[in-house]
Amino acid sequence: MCGIVGYTGPKKANDIIINGLKTLEYRGYDSAGIAFVKDNKINVYREVGRIAALEKMIENVEAAQLGIGHTRWATHGKPSPENAHPHTSMNRMITLVHNGVIENYLEIKEDLSSKGYTFQGQTDTEVIANYLEDDYKKTKDMKQSIMNMMKTMHGAYALGILCSDDKDTLYCVKNKTPMLAGVGEGFNMIGSDAMAMINETNTFIEIKDLEFLIVSRDEIQIYNQDGDRIERKPFTSNINALDINLGTYDHYMMKEIDEQPAVIRTLINEYVREDDINIDPKLIKELQEADRLYIIASGTSMHAGYVGKYLFEELVKKPVEVHLGSEFGYHLPLISKKPLFIFITQSGETADSRVALKLVNEKGYKSLTITNVEGSTLSREATYTLLLKAGPEIAVASTKAYVAQVTLLAILANYLGGNNIDMNLELSRVAHAIEDIISRKDQIKDIVHHKIAYSRNAFYIGRNLDYFVALEAALKLKEISYIQTEGFASGELKHGTIALIEDRTPVIALISQEQVALNTRSAIQEVLARSANATIISMEKVSNKDDDFIISDTYPLFSPLALVVVSQLIAYYAALEIGNDIDKPRNLAKSVTVE
Ligand code: M6R
Repeated sequence: MCGIVGYTGPKKANDIIINGLKTLEYRGYDSAGIAFVKDNKINVYREVGRIAALEKMIENVEAAQLGIGHTRWATHGKPSPENAHPHTSMNRMITLVHNGVIENYLEIKEDLSSKGYTFQGQTDTEVIANYLEDDYKKTKDMKQSIMNMMKTMHGAYALGILCSDDKDTLYCVKNKTPMLAGVGEGFNMIGSDAMAMINETNTFIEIKDLEFLIVSRDEIQIYNQDGDRIERKPFTSNINALDINLGTYDHYMMKEIDEQPAVIRTLINEYVREDDINIDPKLIKELQEADRLYIIASGTSMHAGYVGKYLFEELVKKPVEVHLGSEFGYHLPLISKKPLFIFITQSGETADSRVALKLVNEKGYKSLTITNVEGSTLSREATYTLLLKAGPEIAVASTKAYVAQVTLLAILANYLGGNNIDMNLELSRVAHAIEDIISRKDQIKDIVHHKIAYSRNAFYIGRNLDYFVALEAALKLKEISYIQTEGFASGELKHGTIALIEDRTPVIALISQEQVALNTRSAIQEVLARSANATIISMEKVSNKDDDFIISDTYPLFSPLALVVVSQLIAYYAALEIGNDIDKPRNLAKSVTVE
């Protein structure tokens, strides 16, 4: 979590860094800060809250040509100006911004304290700044001190560093946390992702773990932790700066919901061929030969994984296990003779999944990462990658990435299962069904107003595939409306949880699967008998005329793709009515790069 931008060049660094930080707010947004080199001095500005507050704070600060900025998601120490980055060492020699967690910072802090160093806040980052100052006093060589720091600090870190003795240079270090260098004519940049720099350049240099950079206006020098120079060619990104514009929308989440039919069509064009699939035949062979698939993911991506498991088991008749990244990395399940590990991750940076992938790699197993971000860490570290092609997803609540993940898993499962479904036709039907839902947004807004917003708690229920959608629907609602919501298998309610149903508790039932439709309708009767406020969302084929919202028929196995969109809109309108920050819900960050 946390986002970093740095710039050195002829333009006004103040604006470039603030604009870059705004695109990185998805990584954390509880406080922000910036440091500029101006008139031979390093000036630091820090503010609690959003980038807009920092922007206001520095509006009258003179233009600088070199600086670093940071947007924070608190790990050590609460959001406060003292804990916001940049952090400066005790004698102001070192100023730095950090994304990550230093595991052994307490013992280093103790050592520094015994040497007389004092600390303003509670962060591990301040310890790095003081360590570097202490070491630099001895070495008088930043390159050497950075190498010493890399050998001493254990953990994850992406750092942007300024040294008061060398006010023309930006230093950058990376280990296990994303960081990229941006290359320009007469300027250079560093940033947590390409979007943070895309308004200035579309040319980037990858930085690998345990490497550091010495960046000036005209040159980017890359070194490994032993100080050996590394040559690496830049690459051109195909991200479009327009993709990150909000346009006429009030929120990215609604923009991204509306983009979903287009995302499905992009995936059809990219991967579906009449009697074939446009995917590396080596990967297809691995998938065919695997005796069991292990899907590893977190949050929304894990919910897409559950649907994927169902599709693979139905269409390919291959066993699939779904595991949480945060659990898998510390307790390996029994592994089959010929496994294939599939990592599903929108960002490609989720630390929990990465720990699991490292373990999989150590054991010598093959892996596939399904991600939306080309060149992301989990993509680079897996054997194969399939891209979701959904375009940047900026709202913290994931919408179009889920739809892209399920669509791609459906394309794969159908092909491996004998290519019996006309995917072009059936996925186009899904895209139409979503367009129809989107055209009836007001109906959903109305349901939310009358039945859901302002409730203390709520339930989504469904059975079979609808249950997996209920899990995702519940996450979406709680994530942005803060209404405590649970996704339940409708048959399971009566085994305990029904005790929570009170007068007017919202219970939202999802019904798209013919074989279980009546069972879910029975569960609705059970909660209605206890005065719940039920909302029924059904698919045409299994609908009753009094259902609250009916979606057009799709191929039954693909109904999650349409049903989920209704739940995304329910979450959106609930958060809107309550007045929450839809794109940046409290306590969350888009890319969870800490364990
Ligand atoms: O980038 P990833 O898909 O690996 O992220 C996993 C989760 O953190 C993410 O899906 C999270 O649950 C979303 N905010 C949900 O909307």
